Amino acid sequence: MSETARLSLQGKEVDLPLIIGSENEVGIDISSLRSETGAVTVDVGYKNTGSTTSSITYLDGEAGILRHRGYSIEDLAENATFMEVAYLLINGELPTQQEYEDWDYQIRHHTLVNEDMENIFKAWPTGSHPMGQLTAMISSLSSFYPESLNPNPNEEDQHRTIRRLIAKMPTIVAMLHKKNLGHPIIYPKNKLDYVSNFLNMTFKNVTEDYEIDPIFVEAMNKLLILHADHEQNCSASTVRIVGSAHSNLYACIAAGIAALWGPLHGGANQKVIEMLEAIREDGGDARKFIAKAKDKNDPFRLMGFGHRVYKNYDPRALIIKKSCDDILNKLGVKDPVLDIAKQLEETALADDYFVERKLFPNVDFYSGIIYRAMGFPVEMFTVLFALGRLPGWIAQWKEMRDQNQPIGRPRQIYTGHVKRDWTARALR
Ligand code: ACO
Repeated sequence: MSETARLSLQGKEVDLPLIIGSENEVGIDISSLRSETGAVTVDVGYKNTGSTTSSITYLDGEAGILRHRGYSIEDLAENATFMEVAYLLINGELPTQQEYEDWDYQIRHHTLVNEDMENIFKAWPTGSHPMGQLTAMISSLSSFYPESLNPNPNEEDQHRTIRRLIAKMPTIVAMLHKKNLGHPIIYPKNKLDYVSNFLNMTFKNVTEDYEIDPIFVEAMNKLLILHADHEQNCSASTVRIVGSAHSNLYACIAAGIAALWGPLHGGANQKVIEMLEAIREDGGDARKFIAKAKDKNDPFRLMGFGHRVYKNYDPRALIIKKSCDDILNKLGVKDPVLDIAKQLEETALADDYFVERKLFPNVDFYSGIIYRAMGFPVEMFTVLFALGRLPGWIAQWKEMRDQNQPIGRPRQIYTGHVKRDWTARALR
C-alpha cells in the first residue's frame, strides 16, 4: 500500500506522507503543504482534521468503540475505581498495588483548599451558575500556587500541580454545592476514599450524621469513569490549545471547563433533564418533540442525541442506560422522566430522520436521571461532568507538553474586502 497521498494542485503534484495509527487509522500529514505549495486546508469545525497523534484514547464512532490506553470502557466501568482510571490516563499504565496506594495517599493528603478561597463566594450573586463559579475557582488556584506559573516546571512540580488539581476539585465542587444552598461547607476527610469523600462533603449536613450509601459510591464511581476522557473533543482541544501557549495548568483546565459548559457539549446533561421535564409538563407526548426536532424552522434539538464522532450507539450511553434502571431500582426511586426518556429514545430510533443521520443517545441522555436520583440539583450536572473529565484534560495537556508541541495557531482563508482607500467621514 502507498505510504503517501498525491495531491494535484494548480498544475503541481505533491506527495504527502501518511501517518498510520495503531488501529490502522489513516492520516495525511500536511505539515509541509504550505511551504511546498502556498496553500492551506480549510475544515471549519475540524470535522476532518486530526490535530495531533495521541496514545491516550481510541474511539471508533462507526463501531461504537471507546478504549483508554487500550482498555475498553466497558472493562474499566465494570472493574476500576475512578482513581485507577485517572492514574491510567495520566501515566499511561494501570498502577501496581504499591503505585495505587502511593497515588491514593497523595490525593487524600491534598484535598484541603486554602481557607481564603471561601471569600471568593462572597462576590457571586446568589444562585449564579456553578459552572461559572467552577471556572473562576479553578483558575484562581494559580494565585494560591504561584509556582505553577513557571512554564517549564520540573517533573516533581508538575506532578504536584496535577495531584493538587485532582485532590482539590471534589472539595471545590462540594463547596459550590453547599454555597449554592447557603449551607456551611463540609471539610474533607482523609480517611475516606475519593468518591466517598466527595459524597460526604456534598451530602453531609453539619447538624446530622451522614451514612455513605455504597449504591451512591458505585454509581458515582461509574459515572466519573464514563466521563474521564474522550480524545480531541471541544474541551480537550481547548485545554491543549491554551496549554500550547505554555499557560499554567490551572488556567488550561479552567478554559476546558468553560468549553464544557456549552449546551452542545457537557452542558447538554442539564438541558436533557430540562427537556424531559418540559415534555412531561406538556403531557408526555414524545412524538410532538420529535417533530419539533425534525422541523428545520424550529431551533429545538433533541438534547442528549447525536454526536460529532459516534454514528452508532455511544458505548457510554449503553452502560449508563443499564445502570440507570439498576440504580433507581436499588434506591427505590421512581422517576417519571425515565419513562419519557425511554419513550423518546424508542420513537427517535424508529424515525427515518434519526436513522438516516445516525443520531443515537449520547452519554448525557441518561446521566442526569441518575444524578437527580442521587439528589444533585440540575445546575450541578455539568460540574459533575467536569469532575469526571479532569484526568482526561490533564492527560491531554501532559501529552501535548511532553511531545513539546508548538503553539496552536490555525490559518484561515481571508474572504473580506481587498485593500481600500480611506475616505473622510463626511464623504462616506
Ligand atoms: N436533534 C435533531 N437533529 C439533530 C440533532 C439533534 N440532537 N443532532 C444533529 N441533528 C441533525 C442536524 O440538524 C443535521 O441535520 P441536516 O444534515 O439535515 O442539516 C445532522 O443531524 C448533523 O448534525 P450536525 O449538527 O451537523 O452534527 P455535528 O457533528 O456538528 O453536531 C452535536 C454534533 C453538536 C453533538 C449535535 O448532535 C447536537 O447538537 N446534539 C444535541 C446536543 C448534545 O446532546 N450535545 C452533547 C454531545 S456529547 C458531549 O459533548 C459530551
